[in-house]
Amino acid sequence: MALWGGRFSSGPDAAFKQFNDSLPFDYQLAEQDIVGSIAWAGALKQVQVLSADEHVELVAALQALLDEASVDPRAIATAGYEDIHSYVEARLIDKVGDLGKKLHTGRSRNDQVATDFRLWCRDTAGTVLEALEALKAAFVALAERELGTILPGYTHLQRAQPVLFSHWCMAYVEMLERDTLRLQDAVTRLNECPLGSGALAGTAYDIDREQLAAELNFRCATRNSLDAVSDRDFVLELLSCASISMLHLSRLAEDMIFYNSGEAGFIELGDNVTSGSSLMPQKKNPDALELIRGKTGRVFGAFSAMMMTLKALPLAYNKDMQEDKEGVFDAMPTWLAALHMAQSCIESVKVNGDKTKQAAQGGHANATELADYLVAKGIPFREGHHIVGQLVQLALSEQKNLEDLSLAQFQSVCAQIEQDVYPVLQLDACIAARSAKGGTSVAQVSAAIGAAKKKQQIT
Ligand code: ARG
Repeated sequence: MALWGGRFSSGPDAAFKQFNDSLPFDYQLAEQDIVGSIAWAGALKQVQVLSADEHVELVAALQALLDEASVDPRAIATAGYEDIHSYVEARLIDKVGDLGKKLHTGRSRNDQVATDFRLWCRDTAGTVLEALEALKAAFVALAERELGTILPGYTHLQRAQPVLFSHWCMAYVEMLERDTLRLQDAVTRLNECPLGSGALAGTAYDIDREQLAAELNFRCATRNSLDAVSDRDFVLELLSCASISMLHLSRLAEDMIFYNSGEAGFIELGDNVTSGSSLMPQKKNPDALELIRGKTGRVFGAFSAMMMTLKALPLAYNKDMQEDKEGVFDAMPTWLAALHMAQSCIESVKVNGDKTKQAAQGGHANATELADYLVAKGIPFREGHHIVGQLVQLALSEQKNLEDLSLAQFQSVCAQIEQDVYPVLQLDACIAARSAKGGTSVAQVSAAIGAAKKKQQIT
């Protein structure tokens, strides 16, 4: 039996039914729909719509349904009902007969679906938060292991200044930490319970909505029934969190694809996250990273689709809002899988410290150091910058690094340069000089690693 039909004299077209039905995807809300229904049954008992015995019987049947649904949730998708709410009610009636028909008293699918979806988003966010923690921990472990490795730092994809490989790792820990805080913040706001808002105007039964919210572990009940059934900000927030985090992962993927290239040769990914070519036997391709980069697009797509769907929707519920689910059901697992893959890539990576050091030594990445040296000799920075530019030109024409120029060559451009320039140009000195907070010196990076470990309670 459908949830409606009394005022209709004929049924829907097959094509319309297929167009309208959401069970093929909202079956994923089965657990949340049943848990929400158990809480609603409790509320109905409190307002004497259900007797104590009826309540016990309904809850037992819902519990049995929950157990059944958890065995093979996908099987529900093809059960032919309009949506998950229709499915649960029909199955309940199968189990307990007419008593099952009482459950929807004072409730609408509008407050029901808003509640189910918030529960789902809250659960899923919890899983994503765990994956974010695990990825951060993998980065911190790599940063600790590679504390002695020097990497060329880039701007404009040109070698700019040397940095510690670990400094690069900890940059991603910062991004992932912001992703964590953003998601936690979004969860705080979505953790309010719309149940008991009815279709739009509120429920006519004297339900204690705060108690109902607490029953479902929500922070509180929503405050306005019109808003509660039509608000999907929580979906937008979640998808924007996912988008920003995927953006971070796409930058990580891009960095690592380049580091892993034959041209750079800074890292080698494990066999467990790479694949071969059907034609070229020598190939070991960074597919996991390319897929992370590629999947970023569909997560952004889900976010922008949701923005479009909600734009200019009149209050309160409209069927357009049924379109809120598929994007989230795709984007959240995609985000989760990308986090897991990034973790595997970081855990499997081998760093070639000789290669990174060699690259850091080339490209005149110590030119800034030389300019700072001239400042220490009393030359204004702008002038020093110009002198070093000339020295770089000289080094380039000699096909040498700056530190390989002779003192006579240095002095041919700037008489103030003395023997003490050579230690300044060493990579270690360049790194050590960046010792103010947030810089790449060993002391600063170690402090960042220590702080991250403390946050993660890793000992
Ligand atoms: N399947 C619907 C959705 O996902 C449930 C709410 C339907 N409400 C309604 N009044 N037709 O949004």
